[in-house]
Amino acid sequence: ATDTNITISGLGAHVGETVTLNAWLTDKSGKGKIQFLKLRDGSGFVQATVFKNDVPEDVFEAAKRVAQEQAVRVTGEVRADERAPGGVELAVRDLAPYAESGGEYPITPKEHGIEFLLDHRHLWLRHRRPWAVLRIRDCVQRAIVTFFHGEGFVRFDAPFFTPNAAEGTTELFEIDLFGEDKAYLSQTGQLHAEAGALAFGKVYTFGPTFRAEKSKTRRHLLEFWMVEPEVAPGDHAGNMALQERFVSFLVRRVLEECRTELELLGRDVEKLRGAAEGNYPRVTYTEALEIIRGHIESGDLPKGVQADVQPVEWGDDLGAPHETILGYHFDRPVIVEKYPAAIKAFYMQPDPEDARLALCDDMIAPEGYGEIIGGSERIHDFALLKSRIEHEGLPLDAFEWYLDLRRFGSVPHAGFGMGLERVIAWISGIDHIREAIPFPRMLTRMTP
Ligand code: 4AD
Ligand code: MG
Repeated sequence: ATDTNITISGLGAHVGETVTLNAWLTDKSGKGKIQFLKLRDGSGFVQATVFKNDVPEDVFEAAKRVAQEQAVRVTGEVRADERAPGGVELAVRDLAPYAESGGEYPITPKEHGIEFLLDHRHLWLRHRRPWAVLRIRDCVQRAIVTFFHGEGFVRFDAPFFTPNAAEGTTELFEIDLFGEDKAYLSQTGQLHAEAGALAFGKVYTFGPTFRAEKSKTRRHLLEFWMVEPEVAPGDHAGNMALQERFVSFLVRRVLEECRTELELLGRDVEKLRGAAEGNYPRVTYTEALEIIRGHIESGDLPKGVQADVQPVEWGDDLGAPHETILGYHFDRPVIVEKYPAAIKAFYMQPDPEDARLALCDDMIAPEGYGEIIGGSERIHDFALLKSRIEHEGLPLDAFEWYLDLRRFGSVPHAGFGMGLERVIAWISGIDHIREAIPFPRMLTRMTP
């Protein structure tokens, strides 16, 4: 029988003992009387050494034959070795494959192009880089749940099929309901989270959301995960403070729990120090335009931004290069508040000091990762919300339930949405969010 409690990551506690592990071979070298097997088991990586003189003939032959990514059951003595990653290696006593290898494993140690790797994502997941990024994803997901639980929020699940378009109609995936009716794949859980907030006070949704993004960028997926807290009663100022506590908590958790993973990815963790501390700068949309203009005029532009980039005219939305410039100006995430209402969603509360503006904010990550959070105070006045829905050309009947939230017990409330993959990509320091999710869905990718 195999002791399934023993994993590679836990071998340090078994120095001097003989243990049995399930593992896969990642790489192999050696000749003559010695074989070096690089093994992984999901928890970590270890080198196993097989000496011809220490094992029966058939075990040494099995070690010579084991192929890349073949699964093996291996028994060996755990030895301390300072030079080894993890501080240990395994002196093999016995080794047997679970099954014959099905031929040559496609992902060889040579360099492969990204499309080839994504075509083989089901196998690529086994390699070091996806291992590190997706363990960081797991850490962030756990930290999200811990944070909101600690702040007294109730997790509240929004549906994936929805009757409403909430974030504009151009990026909606439409579902045909047996030719009778239409529904959409959810772009946001927010509207349902608002119902949850009026029922439970503080809630958050956490799940996949869908947007028919027709552009190919490093920041967009068709299917991405979003976490959306909603607080009633709640306001714009409280919303921004919550965002800062939240994001700094997530960064601290990853720095504490994922040192091995960050190191494997070559992440410069110094660049995350400010984000872990808090004290995020806050600027208005109008101030942000000036900061961006200043960088363009002085030519002080970050890597990746074209020299012919144009400043933003007041009233226009920030583009990806503008967010990159803004992120470059600060050493930690920056909160940009009070965008023009005309370029934001219909449900946002107008600024009482200037009705052209919305009580909203975006959080922009440093190092070119762009917007990681969008949020706002919500319109709580029935008549105003109704007129905004009509003005937007949205079907009133689909929003009757949403208007009920303003008919019965309406209060000022606020919330935000954070894109999980964008945050993971930023913290991990990878340059495209497609690697921040196990199986990315993009315009040009639906498999595996
Ligand atoms: O700014 P967005 O569109 O805001 C909302 O959906 C609000 N209803 C949220 C709320 O207030 N409850 O999206 C929120 C975040 C963005 O800041 C970004 O991080 C991420 O979702 N996001 C995407 N991530 C990956 N791929 C895409 N196509 C994304 N679109 C948005
Ligand atoms: Mg947004």
